[in-house]
Amino acid sequence: MTEQNKFKYLWPTLFGSFYNSDHSKIKKELIKYFEKYKKNNPIGNKSGENYKLYESKYDLHLQKNETLDNLFKNFMSKSFFATAKEANKDYLNLFGKPEIGVTFVDSWFVHYEKGGFVTPHAHGQCSWCCVYYVQIGEDGSITNGGTYFQKPTPSRGTLDFGSYYNKFLSANFNPEEGRMYIWPSHLMHGSYPYDGKEDRIIISANVQVFIMENGKPIKSI
Ligand SMILES: [Fe+2]
Repeated sequence: MTEQNKFKYLWPTLFGSFYNSDHSKIKKELIKYFEKYKKNNPIGNKSGENYKLYESKYDLHLQKNETLDNLFKNFMSKSFFATAKEANKDYLNLFGKPEIGVTFVDSWFVHYEKGGFVTPHAHGQCSWCCVYYVQIGEDGSITNGGTYFQKPTPSRGTLDFGSYYNKFLSANFNPEEGRMYIWPSHLMHGSYPYDGKEDRIIISANVQVFIMENGKPIKSI
């Protein structure tokens, strides 16, 4: 018997888009905490890809703040878990019904000033990354401080219909308060310059997602 014709996508790029319906309840508390953090750490982090913005240290998940803890442990962890599960759905049966744990490697907040932006870069030591919009200001249009991703595949060699799916060089995502986007760590990304009266504030995080065995993460699969 001959095999039926089939299609299969190889090396797809998965994005997750999640909305925190409790955001309006925690927004003020988060901003208040970040203001306090900035007063205690006025220098912040100086990454080469950043311009006109304040970036915190990368250990936000280790700070003792109840609102942040809840956001990381509940909304963010669940969103990362769902994304990792979807990306690996073809492989889940290799592991039975595994217990899965999300570990935050880095997390930080960014406070963009007028004209602030981030040039293209990728994150290391993690499998998934995110941006969570805390405050976007009046203008949430895509190119006003929005997040963009660069195409990870090589350029098209022709301009035919057959390669049309490979045409677009970047993808833009709408900033929205309470929205979190998740992407695989290898993707190059950045943010358009932000222009607004109210500063733009976001949280970012890098995670690894482990299968747990007897309460311990299996670190190498
Ligand atoms: Fe980034």
